[in-house]
Amino acid sequence: MEIKLQNLTKVFQAKDKTETIAVNSLDITIPAGKLIGLLGPSGCGKSTTLYMIAGLLKPTEGKIFFGDEDVTEKAPEDRGIGLVFQNYALYPHMTVRQNIMFPLENLKVPKAEAMVRAQEMADLVGIGELMDRKPKQLSGGQQQRVAIARALVKKPRVLLLDEPLSNLDARLRLQTREEIKRIQRETGITTIFVTHDQEEAMSISDEIVLMEVGFKRQVGIPQDVYDMPENLFSAKFLGTPPINLFEGSIKEGKVTLFGGVIEKTKAKDIESCWIGIRPEGFLVDKEGPLELHIDMVETIGRDTSLVIKDEKNNTRSFRVIVDSSNRILPGDKVKFSVKPSKLFLFDKVTGEKLG
Ligand SMILES: Nc1ncnc2c1ncn2[C@@H]1O[C@H](COP(=O)(O)OP(=O)(O)OP(=O)(O)O)[C@@H](O)[C@H]1O
Ligand SMILES: [Mg+2]
Repeated sequence: MEIKLQNLTKVFQAKDKTETIAVNSLDITIPAGKLIGLLGPSGCGKSTTLYMIAGLLKPTEGKIFFGDEDVTEKAPEDRGIGLVFQNYALYPHMTVRQNIMFPLENLKVPKAEAMVRAQEMADLVGIGELMDRKPKQLSGGQQQRVAIARALVKKPRVLLLDEPLSNLDARLRLQTREEIKRIQRETGITTIFVTHDQEEAMSISDEIVLMEVGFKRQVGIPQDVYDMPENLFSAKFLGTPPINLFEGSIKEGKVTLFGGVIEKTKAKDIESCWIGIRPEGFLVDKEGPLELHIDMVETIGRDTSLVIKDEKNNTRSFRVIVDSSNRILPGDKVKFSVKPSKLFLFDKVTGEKLG
């Protein structure tokens, strides 16, 4: 089921009449059967967007379509959605089986059928053996799977997940996110997964929608957004260690950094712009235009991470990742060139990509 958001807007008004535009004219089409990661920093409007899709919040403006059907005015229970929150909100006095069956009771599904469907869903999410336990007898990851089974048992058209992994420890989070991906693939259900964790969104999503202060900043396949950031925000939000930013200039089509010409560009000349270079975009190169002073060296398996704080060029310290076969030591002066595909130019004022 394709989901389409049209000019979707939510304005909250406080008692003193101050307004927060939590979601600002969002236009997004979510393809049927895909898992979309809704990503952005705290307060950017992810949950608000999700709750409008769920029908728990009424949009100030705009429309929501499920396929061809306009569901904007529909009650949550008539939309055919399954919703999972961060804190699983299971009924503590009920067993796992009763928790999963609960939505079917409301729908007046006959008990025998409900039992079969609950078992199927429990098996799907990998907790089929735990049906008679109470929630407090389960681990966090198991509880979250019960919540997912309960959301899926109604056979919803759309699955909405709001930071479903944030209460889990690192290992469980990794495991459960792989599980969610598998469940989504097996069921083919259109899923929106809200997270502020870029790595989580990148690894699980078919596409990500990146938001900032209520606006959509970029939409695309995770690797594409990483490789081709459309603006400064997008470049900064994805990637660990983060992209390095320097102030530079473009003169006669040449990008100059620390006095060395590091690239030729079609972008217009500009006195001052941001030069963004991914940590893996520096290549050790005897002929390279940049000579940098290495401050610290951390070798971790395959990669060596260099911390550079070049006094002569008055840089703040920044990180470069090179292959560990480069035997570089602290105190060395090393020449680098820059990989064109890892270098991005952004306007100082608008943050938009130049060139
Ligand atoms: N009921 C409300 N009344 C007033 N303002 C609200 C309300 N709910 C959310 N907001 C504001 O709207 C903005 C978006 O909030 P939202 O909960 O959608 O953010 P989020 O992206 O989900 O953040 P987080 O990652 O912290 O969960 C924030 O500035 C928030 O303070
Ligand atoms: Mg939220």
